[in-house]
Amino acid sequence: MNKIRVFSGIQPSGEMHLGNYLGAVKQWVENQGKEKENFYCIVDLHAHTILRDPVELRDNIRSLAAMLFACGLSHEKSTVFIQSQVRAHAEACWLLNCVTPMGWLERMTQFKDKKEKLNSISAALLDYPVLQTGDIILYDADEVPVGEDQKQHVELARDIAQRFNNLFGETFKLPEPIIPTIGARVMNLSNPTSKMSKSFDEDDGGVVGLLDDDSKIVKSIKRAVTDSGNDIVFSDDPEKAGVNNLLGIYKVITGKSSDDVEKDFEGARGYGILKEKVAEVVLETIKPIREKYNEYISDKSELDRLLDIGAENARLISEPKVLEMKNKMGFI
Ligand code: TYM
Repeated sequence: MNKIRVFSGIQPSGEMHLGNYLGAVKQWVENQGKEKENFYCIVDLHAHTILRDPVELRDNIRSLAAMLFACGLSHEKSTVFIQSQVRAHAEACWLLNCVTPMGWLERMTQFKDKKEKLNSISAALLDYPVLQTGDIILYDADEVPVGEDQKQHVELARDIAQRFNNLFGETFKLPEPIIPTIGARVMNLSNPTSKMSKSFDEDDGGVVGLLDDDSKIVKSIKRAVTDSGNDIVFSDDPEKAGVNNLLGIYKVITGKSSDDVEKDFEGARGYGILKEKVAEVVLETIKPIREKYNEYISDKSELDRLLDIGAENARLISEPKVLEMKNKMGFI
């Protein structure tokens, strides 16, 4: 039987944060222990949809690679690679552009959000989900483990793949988004109605970076916005979004059931103890990752060697696929 194939990606657009880790990367590491074939991509072409400083981008790419290996991805159990090093991705994007109706892209909520926030936007920003579609379907991925915010993009990938299949004959598998039940949307600690995200937060006090030092992390968690009550229970009430977020972080890290999480805080007075416990489990999780990160980042040639292995593997699958696309579309 063929193994389930998994593809996912992450942008090198600044330091990896707790949302990326709990919403996506933690699942990727866990997938390595299952009967799955794993492809994880550093999507640097996506990062440039908002213009980047070249020196900074180069640093960010290597830093993210070191971080992914530090989190537990292994070059033997996963194909970990840089998108721009595998040409099929950019080529597939063009081919898929030709079959994608403009209206599908204009409807994407992330595009609409970013358009609002930026003074000027590139054509690439609109095209972003088509590049993402190519990433996924070039590998005939069955599963795409992502946080909640990427669900719409993966659904669009299904629609574009389906449209290509209808126009040119069966070519692509239709991928499924795999969203964790908890951790899928880690919220900003200072503004718990917005998701934790690096790109647009002027004040990053509500974002926990995996490379932040302990005191900064403790400070951010202690300052996390809560409410004027004192019930430490999971709740959909928007008023209690802050407490719910802290409990969610605690739950996903400890792996406990919601009941057991609530029991841990039974009888507590005020939110101080919740914040203390959350800070404790977050620091415990991050500490070994940070130590391994420092090892990987200090050996650039070893890091590049691991990424070369990944790129070579990725080419073996994606190059024949892009050729198949071109043949079906009538190119010589
Ligand atoms: P990116 O780089 O924004 O985020 C990487 C992963 O982290 C998840 N994530 C979160 N999960 C929970 N809570 C949060 N606050 C949070 N913030 C981010 C994201 O959902 C994502 O899974 N477009 C993608 C990258 C991409 C991709 C792909 C993903 C490009 N090609 C192909 C899957 C398959 C992005 O910008 O992710």
